[in-house]
Amino acid sequence: MNEISEIRRIGVLTSGGDCAGLNAAIRAVVYRASFGYGWDVVGIENGTLGLLSRPIAARPLGPSDFDGRLIRESGTFLGSTNKGNPFAFEMPDGSVRDRSGDVAAAVAELGLDAVVGIGGDGILALLKRHADQGGFPLVCIPKTIDNDVGVTEVSIGYDTAVHVATEALDRLQPTAASHGRVMILEVMGRDAGHIALVSGIAGGADVILIPEIGYDIDVVAAKLSEAQDKDRKHALMVVAEGCPAPDGNGKYGGVGHAVAEALSGKLESEIRVTVLGHVQRGGVPTARDRLMAAAFGTRAVDLLAEGQRDRMVAWRDRQVIDVPIADAIANYRGDDVDGAVVATARGLGISLGDA
Ligand code: F6P
Repeated sequence: MNEISEIRRIGVLTSGGDCAGLNAAIRAVVYRASFGYGWDVVGIENGTLGLLSRPIAARPLGPSDFDGRLIRESGTFLGSTNKGNPFAFEMPDGSVRDRSGDVAAAVAELGLDAVVGIGGDGILALLKRHADQGGFPLVCIPKTIDNDVGVTEVSIGYDTAVHVATEALDRLQPTAASHGRVMILEVMGRDAGHIALVSGIAGGADVILIPEIGYDIDVVAAKLSEAQDKDRKHALMVVAEGCPAPDGNGKYGGVGHAVAEALSGKLESEIRVTVLGHVQRGGVPTARDRLMAAAFGTRAVDLLAEGQRDRMVAWRDRQVIDVPIADAIANYRGDDVDGAVVATARGLGISLGDA
């Protein structure tokens, strides 16, 4: 059993790409720290960049900063960044400097006894390095629409992104049906196909392409033709941005158009492409994302109170557990090609492009 810590003042920051549910997570941290333990909370602005700014970009946070609206808003009111790695910081003159010492100095200057970091796998690795170097207790909360952080079944922001992508399919289907077209929806997810797979199943797609499963463009064309020949004239397809183009080239963003081009000579019907992009990071956070934010935020503070450090909160089997941050970083979580969700897609007759 860990001893009760001497923590009185903690910092909280959001870093990396924003997503829905971050404000709810910050609120949960502040509520638990304040109501549960009487601690002061400092909100660090713009992620790690706030700790590199001079004066340091930070402000005191208390329960009164949350007026009831913030849990309903996506984005992060503290700001975020996915630029400016402090260990290799690009200076205005173009030179690169290790400014990690400035981060540790800022944590000390703010009088923080611990930090709660809310981020994806890249940020977890970065924050862990800072905490190891600066010697401050760190607990992390996983967030990313990609849902690819290891060890946790769910990261904050994923559910809202899936919801947005599914709604996009709900909007695309009637127009696809009206014109007898093939609609291709390109969704985010970086190297993971979680958003594509789940929204594709929920949204009635005929074909779903994910980075974890290689595809054959002729198999895709055959499935789309078959779907259109059966009982309807339209077809829906979801492609994850991390899939390689049919010519094998890999890049993020644009694969939807590349697939459409490759299909154009193989299908009789017209094809239209929608690239959903950053729309998936906004909108009203779903109840599930707000629940994750609340559960993770409160437990992260409890862990610090128990004297824990270097842990990430995680969701498994309807429980909040905690794991070493290093485990989460080391275990990237893509779609399980032998798992229940892939099996569900195949069971419905959805083509994943490989058969
Ligand atoms: O990692 C989250 C994510 O939204 C990815 O799904 C996407 O590829 C990327 O961030 C976009 O990053 P940016 O906001 O820098 O364009």
